[in-house]
This record gives sequence, C-alpha cells and structure tokens, in this order.
Amino acid sequence: MVKIFIDSADIDEIKQAYAWGIADGVTTNPSLLKKAVDKRKKKGQKLNLKTYINEILKVAKGTPVSLEVTETTAAGMIKQGKALYKMFNKVAKNVYIKIPINPAFKNSDSTHFDGIIAIKALSKAKIPTNCTLIFTPEQALLAAKAGASFVSPFAGRVDDFLRINAKLKFTKTDHYPVWGETKGKKLLHDNGIVSGIDLVEQCVRVLKHYNLKTEVLAASLRNTRQVREAAMVGSAIATLPLFVIQDMLKHQKTYEGMKGFTKDIVPAYVALTK
Ligand code: G3P
Repeated sequence: MVKIFIDSADIDEIKQAYAWGIADGVTTNPSLLKKAVDKRKKKGQKLNLKTYINEILKVAKGTPVSLEVTETTAAGMIKQGKALYKMFNKVAKNVYIKIPINPAFKNSDSTHFDGIIAIKALSKAKIPTNCTLIFTPEQALLAAKAGASFVSPFAGRVDDFLRINAKLKFTKTDHYPVWGETKGKKLLHDNGIVSGIDLVEQCVRVLKHYNLKTEVLAASLRNTRQVREAAMVGSAIATLPLFVIQDMLKHQKTYEGMKGFTKDIVPAYVALTK
C-alpha cells in the first residue's frame, strides 16, 4: 500500500494530517522550514527551533521524519547529518537525514559526488537517509547503491521543467499528462523522461530489478491525480502538501450523494440506535 507522508515543516499541518490517521511520515526541506518559521515570525511568535523540531518528531512518533542538511560538501553534510541525528533521533527514534543527490550548483563545480559520499558514510554509521532532488533514474540508482533508504524523485518540478522549456502556460498545480505533452509534433522530454510521474515510474522500474531496500518516495506532487498515478506506478511513498491530502477526499457527486441520503433519512431507522 502506498504510504502517505506529509510534505511540510508546519507543526499545525503535521498535527492535522496525523489526527486524520493517514500520515505515515513527514518530509521537510529548507524551504518548507523557512515557510513555517516565517509564518510564526509574522504572527510575532517566538520560536525555539530545537523544541519545535522535537515537537514534530513526537507527533510523528513511529514514522519517519526527514530533516535536510544545508551543507554542500561531503564532509560538511556528513558532520551536519551526524549532528542532526544525534541531537534529534533520541526524541522519537524516527529521524532520516535528507541529502541532495548532487550538491553542486553548476556543471563546473567539483562536488557532484559529494551527496553519494555523504549517503554512503551515513549509511555506514547506520543513519537512514532520504536522497532528495532526484531528476533521473540514474541518480536514483547511484543513491540506492550508496545505501539511501528513500530516493525522492521531484515529479512536479519535472513537469515545470518540460513546460517552461516548451514555453507552455501553466499554474503550479495543473495536471501534466503522465504520457507527456507534444509541441508541434514533438513529444516533450528530458533525456527520455516525458513527465514527473514517468520519472517516478522509471525509478520504480529500475530499482525493482535488484534486491535493494531503497524505497521510491514520489515528491513534489501538487494535485490528487499525480497521487493516483504515483500509486499506479508502484511508488512506495507519496509525500504531499496538506491541501493535496485534503483534496483527495473531495468530489461534487459525493457531496450531492450525502445531501440526497440525508434528505431521505427514515426517522425510525435513526431511532433504532438512539
Ligand atoms: O518534497 C519536495 C517538495 O517539497 C518540493 O515541492 O512543489 O516545491 O516542487 P515543490
């Protein structure tokens, strides 16, 4: 069964998802943490980040919580990853260290393998990792080989990339066809990846041939149809913003059905269980 993680560093959102009883984990990243911190700052609230993260870990007890490194060299990521794990894993024993597959900022940087080196070192130290910013199955393969527990293909951002390159108009939550989009007669693709969900599927297909413990965690999902498709292609995990989890239950005909059934209630039937 596909596991549903909440993609948020906002404690209120995380609490809500766990209260609904469907959350199997939490993913955070520096941007999500900034959003959560800024929201509290705006409200004039003081925030002790250590206590705040402890609270997230406690709410998610028994399920994985990814905390991302901010360093960009292998040595820096290993040091920070170990320090984060030491500081936080004792709270609820559920910390996964999130490491970018490649922390380089440009092609000419010399740090392309630093993510892999960090994953390998943390994995050797028995610290579970979630390898993030995956945009090719090859990256997922190397991350899995290095010992990552999760590999996170960023589906929505692949769709963004294809649409922006083709100068297509879209909004962030628009669905992009899993089979791809054409411009003129040409199928849009990024080195053979035709959509974000296609990337997820290719990662699943590549990893399933081998006896690896690594799970595919479909990330950057912005609408419910992508969640359905991530599950259809066999992603082990889908991490979702709260609004996408909420949208998964909504349908006009469900509301209509509820209204009709409620209108037709036979009072004697209700009285049976009063
Ligand atoms: O889990 C990754 C996610 O937070 C990125 O989402 O929508 O910014 O591409 P998005």
